[in-house]
Amino acid sequence: MLVLGIETTCDETAAAVVERQADGQARILSNVVRSQIDEHARFGGVVPEIAARAHVDLLDGIIASAMKEAGVGYAQLSAVAAAAGPGLIGGVIVGLTTAKAIAMVHDTPLIAVNHLEAHALTPRLTCALAFPYCLFLASGGHTQIVAVVGVGEYVRLGTTVDDAMGEAFDKVAKMLSLPYPGGPQVERAAAGGDPTRFAFPRPMLGRPDANFSLSGLKTAVRNEASRLEPLEPQDISDLCASFQAAVLESTADRLTVGLRLFQERFGTPRALVAAGGVAANHAIRSALQDVAAKAETTLIIPPPALCTDNGAMIAWAGAERMALGLTDTLEAPPRARWLL
Ligand code: KG4
Ligand code: ZN
Repeated sequence: MLVLGIETTCDETAAAVVERQADGQARILSNVVRSQIDEHARFGGVVPEIAARAHVDLLDGIIASAMKEAGVGYAQLSAVAAAAGPGLIGGVIVGLTTAKAIAMVHDTPLIAVNHLEAHALTPRLTCALAFPYCLFLASGGHTQIVAVVGVGEYVRLGTTVDDAMGEAFDKVAKMLSLPYPGGPQVERAAAGGDPTRFAFPRPMLGRPDANFSLSGLKTAVRNEASRLEPLEPQDISDLCASFQAAVLESTADRLTVGLRLFQERFGTPRALVAAGGVAANHAIRSALQDVAAKAETTLIIPPPALCTDNGAMIAWAGAERMALGLTDTLEAPPRARWLL
């Protein structure tokens, strides 16, 4: 089964061709991603209108490259899959409409994929992982703990009640005048800082649910930063290190509770899987390693190129759905919001 996947929900324009073999094994034949970071950097964040226009300009060429690199023609495709949300609606419309056009012209089934479902199924693209497993998704737009019970069977165990984790990193970076995207910058600055200099709050610590909250912590950093003005480089490093330490402790606590809730409902997870841009953070990775070890499960973090937004994960989610006969009609709507 050969599936073309299209991703345009945020600031990556991406397309990929993935093969799903009869035994469920996957092969990525191409995975072309064009990040729009340069277009958005000077505004300090993603500008939806600029993103949508860039997707219009870039998508046809990216799809052509993905098909060429994979060495397949449209007639060979088993399906075309597009992320139909959740995300910035302009971009979602561009990707989904393009997929519908391909589906119509080449008489190929359409699969409207939930972007979050694609993140949730990504580890099965890289290894033979059986259900059920526990997903920790932390990106610029989402922070969730999800029980992945089967294809189409997702139970949200925890979510952020305010900012997404990547968003909090980006906002802290912005208030400290570090460039966008802020996550990697904060991590770098934190490496030379004192994580104990500022006693920032550990949001939600000890709460019986598995939810996250990041806006109070972000505000605490802002208050401390304005108290210290003008900031010396060491202040910035210490603020980043202290912020990151608070995020780590809160994340470890929230995931420990999430895994306990998982265990109660679904038994021992086959793995704890981390995805989303924040999973690139080395300090967070090692905190997750500890959490998984204590819960006696393995930690799986797909390679960075598959953790962040890409077309292969959309193609793969499409292939997993197609294998169960789950296709969509050309009426499938683009959705800004779409819960798993
Ligand atoms: O998954 P992703 O590439 O895109 C979406 O948001 O969908 O995630 C990007 C987010 C940004 O907020 C970025 O600052 C954050 O992930 N991020 C990091 C790191 N690398 C990327 N946050 C903390 N530490 C990092 N090393
Ligand atoms: Zn994403």
